[in-house]
Amino acid sequence: MNGGQERIKGEYLRHMQIIEHAESLAPLHACALVPTMGALHAGHASLIQRAVSDGRPVVVSLFVNPTQFAVGEDFSKYPRTLEADRELCQTAGAAAIFIPSVQAMYPRGVEAANAEAATLQLPLVATQPKLEDAQRPTHFCGVCQVVAKLFDMCQPAAAYFGEKDFQQLRVIQDMVRREGARWKELVVHACPTIRENDGLAMSSRNRYLQANQRTNAQGLSRALMFAQESARAGMDIVAAENEMRRVLTQHQLEVDYAVIRAPETLLPIEKFQPGSRALIAARLEGVRLIDNASCSGA
Ligand code: PAF
Repeated sequence: MNGGQERIKGEYLRHMQIIEHAESLAPLHACALVPTMGALHAGHASLIQRAVSDGRPVVVSLFVNPTQFAVGEDFSKYPRTLEADRELCQTAGAAAIFIPSVQAMYPRGVEAANAEAATLQLPLVATQPKLEDAQRPTHFCGVCQVVAKLFDMCQPAAAYFGEKDFQQLRVIQDMVRREGARWKELVVHACPTIRENDGLAMSSRNRYLQANQRTNAQGLSRALMFAQESARAGMDIVAAENEMRRVLTQHQLEVDYAVIRAPETLLPIEKFQPGSRALIAARLEGVRLIDNASCSGA
């Protein structure tokens, strides 16, 4: 890029507000909010573009939330790429990015915030399905805590979440339904998962994968395709789940779960039904990947 182009890009970036303090969000109340932890990719860009196309000013929050990571998870090494994130938000058409500090979000400290998160009454879909809730028992406490804080601060009229984290999406939808009056007329929009050309669902954690692990990571999308074919063929759920596991292990993936569930409750079902959801979590040498897809019966 030459000097002139640099200057034009600099001018362009200046038009997007960078907000660090919640008080400065007041003029943006009733915005469209896209909550993120940064390390943005094309999946996030599609959320922002969808929000922009719905017509409200879009605020993207960038906050790596410590309370949703358990001890030993990747909080400290979670990728932080603020400059690239800023550019992606600007290009996608965001009106502002909100980058609060940990101190601003949790003034009494992270330990106190963790203790507070543990007391939250979570929606049933955060505790009953035994999916992410079983693998990461404190995770949804932290997610509900931070998302509720972001909603309180931004007072959005709309919020956009990817289907890639399907249980998280369902948890947030139920939290918003339950809290009704707290975030007046807030609508939660579910946006489709964006995939790489090889089928791998886009995720900030994909950058942890070595080049030679990428081929095996395709096992997730292949197992999901298998679940979709099983649904069309009217296969038995247990047999379809066994086959999903077989596909995953063939790709050297260690399976946390590979299941087909009811779309609303995420509880086990006996037969495929409209919107049944196949959900997978599996590990490739320490890198944990999750994915899901709708698979309705024939
Ligand atoms: O999906 C994410 O990136 C995070 O869980 C969220 C919703 C931004 C809360 O920190």
